[in-house]
Amino acid sequence: MFVTVLLLLVTLCAQEGHSEDRAEAQRSGHVSVVIVGGTGDLAKKYLWQGFFELYVNQARSGKTFSFYGGGLSPADAATPVLFEILKAVSCPKAVSQERCALLKEQFLRLAQYRQLKTREDYQDLAKHIERELQQEGITEAGRLFYLSLPAFAYADVADKINNSCRPTSEAWLRVVLEKPFGHDFRSAQVLAAQLGSSLKDEEMYRIDHYLGKQVVAKILPFRKENKKFLDPIWNKHHIERVEIIMKESLDVKGRIPFYDQYGVIRDVLQNHLTEVMTLLTMRLPMNLSSSEEVLRNKLQIFSSMLPLRKNQAVVGQYQAYQTTVQEEMNKTKDHVSLTPTFAAVLAHLDDAQYEGVPILLISGKMLDERVGYARILFKNDIFCLQNPNAVHCKPKQIVFYFGHGSLQYPAILVSKNLFKPVLMDGDWKEVTEHTDVNILGLPISDYYVQTPNEQKEAYSELISHIFAGRKNSFISAENLLASWGLWTPLLDSLASSYPRIYPGGADNRDLLDIRVNGKEIGYNTEVVIISPDQMGGTLTNSFQVMQGKFRSDDMVSAWAEELVERLAVDIQEAAEAAVREGGVFHLAFSGGSTPLALFHRLSLHHFSFPWSYTHVWMVDERCAPLTDPESNFHSLHDHLLQHVRVPYYNIHPMPVQLNHRLCVEEDGGALLYEKEINKLVNGSSFHFVLLGVGYDRHTASLFPGTKADELGESLVALTESPVKPHQRMSLTFSAINRARKVALLVMGKGKHELITQLSRVKDNPDKWPVTGVKPADGRLVWYIDYDALLG
Ligand code: BG6
Repeated sequence: MFVTVLLLLVTLCAQEGHSEDRAEAQRSGHVSVVIVGGTGDLAKKYLWQGFFELYVNQARSGKTFSFYGGGLSPADAATPVLFEILKAVSCPKAVSQERCALLKEQFLRLAQYRQLKTREDYQDLAKHIERELQQEGITEAGRLFYLSLPAFAYADVADKINNSCRPTSEAWLRVVLEKPFGHDFRSAQVLAAQLGSSLKDEEMYRIDHYLGKQVVAKILPFRKENKKFLDPIWNKHHIERVEIIMKESLDVKGRIPFYDQYGVIRDVLQNHLTEVMTLLTMRLPMNLSSSEEVLRNKLQIFSSMLPLRKNQAVVGQYQAYQTTVQEEMNKTKDHVSLTPTFAAVLAHLDDAQYEGVPILLISGKMLDERVGYARILFKNDIFCLQNPNAVHCKPKQIVFYFGHGSLQYPAILVSKNLFKPVLMDGDWKEVTEHTDVNILGLPISDYYVQTPNEQKEAYSELISHIFAGRKNSFISAENLLASWGLWTPLLDSLASSYPRIYPGGADNRDLLDIRVNGKEIGYNTEVVIISPDQMGGTLTNSFQVMQGKFRSDDMVSAWAEELVERLAVDIQEAAEAAVREGGVFHLAFSGGSTPLALFHRLSLHHFSFPWSYTHVWMVDERCAPLTDPESNFHSLHDHLLQHVRVPYYNIHPMPVQLNHRLCVEEDGGALLYEKEINKLVNGSSFHFVLLGVGYDRHTASLFPGTKADELGESLVALTESPVKPHQRMSLTFSAINRARKVALLVMGKGKHELITQLSRVKDNPDKWPVTGVKPADGRLVWYIDYDALLG
């Protein structure tokens, strides 16, 4: 069979009269392509077409090919199915009908179906390839296995390929895989390790088909070509926000068993949209074709990403999804799936270039239209007094338009009031004749528009890259794990969130509109769901703050949000009074999770807080480096300090790490902190101390069993916690009780039992450390939310 093929190739080469320029392609030899899962959906829709185009393009290269469609079914049943698929492939436009027919006939002759189920099947395939090579006397160039399979089969198939199908000569082995590569960091790591035991990293080609989209592939070249225009504006001073959007109008019928386990964040945001984000924000590589440099710069972006928190995401689910899940997964009517089919996530980079620039990643099924784009919206720095329609008054934006939508073709659009971009390369053209469409708020005539001369399928593009061994359009293991590292904590925190239900299509109207509020996002419109017992019950009017007494001290109580609002106002009042009086405010914060809501409130709503006169102290610290997420200071920094302007010299973390070790008595860290307090705080009396109470009744890091007397008059001490990390540094009762005002914040249903007991017990600081808080000249106020108070 090979002989006929070779003859035909010679004829074709002669007809064409010129040769391929790619070095890889010019090297002759035989290539075996095996699509495992060769009669499946993906193979049928894209892969065979992609490999046919590869074959057409390589017809004059001197290479020979054989194509195998592999699957679990026996050959007699699956062969006709495969050939039906193969008959449907089509030639690129540039190929004449005559030549196309010839190539297609040839392609069909080179293809065959093989059952690939057992180890012996893989061994037989290898023997078959070797026999043919020997008979024809041709050298082998390589073997390409495309695993178009569910991910659970990857490790096993990779193992079979490794054991039975490695080429024996110098020829290459390339194995192509497609997401899902795990469903979180851990599972991706396990899968990477399993695959790593059979295949070398350079042999694996992990596909993200977005990297094969023509516009996505041009993001870096566009940034490079237009560097002189972009350099001055590609930064936080000029970029208003970045949006990376993939809207789909279809539902997920037929894919539920897969989709219900993954949802839109794992299906689209973690991969396609994240990849686009890294291309837009990474430092421009000097050499765009160096996969090492591209990877290095990508990884740098991942390490600059601020962690994604729950309040930086909203999720939704189209209404009919539940019924489809019940049907496709044989579930009863009371089965509820929380899998999101829509998500919007707000990301930020902690990096001098993009600090504070909102990056929105949004995707969903059953939306009003199918469209994908990335838009860089620039700040409007021109104020137009008279003619807002003049070109310089209009929004300035660059849109990487992946396709579909109102434009219907892939394009890069640059607002005319920004700059005239350099035309990409010979394969792209400028569009000057426009139909009357509006793209993201501007008529198309307000843009410079470029589009590829010929539209190509992402898979076909990627197949040609695999063949050429060009690795930078694929996902390396490090890249993959970095992305899961970013998304896994968010996925965990959203695991039990109820998605907003949307009807689908145009009926969604403004239901999925997003509001960006500082570092957080939410739906713009509230859907208020009031449960019947709340409507008729006693809580109807209790969205107010209640004053009372708790353990003979003042108590403020409210629902969590109002309580935190009130506490923030009280702290600001104390701060203003102290600054008026003495020009400085000394504030000491506890750690743990309870104060986080307060930190957010202070950073997002208290813009007139006198931060520049405020000294921030720590009530207690865990003996961990300050850079460790366990550290109280680390969390204070992340949730408050980095967002407000406290002068550096007013920030006082506890010196838990001295001489390269943590909390060692002889290093004198506690004494050092005490000296600093004595030196800076008038009478060592803080203006405001914020405390909490732990489930085990501790306050600050004073745990049951800490002998208050033994601490004597010292203000700071090393203490022991029953839970990890065991070693702590803490203000003592002496320090706390000198404060002018102490707030004890207790929130959450989980603390109800504790509050009930506390309301009854007598003062006994050894057993109930919190009862030792008795500010001598100051005031203690309990801030207890209704959940903790009422249970
Ligand atoms: C796939 C997702 O990776 O991308 C699908 O699994 C999604 O859910 C598809 O529909 C969208 O790709 P495209 O190329 O149509 O934007």
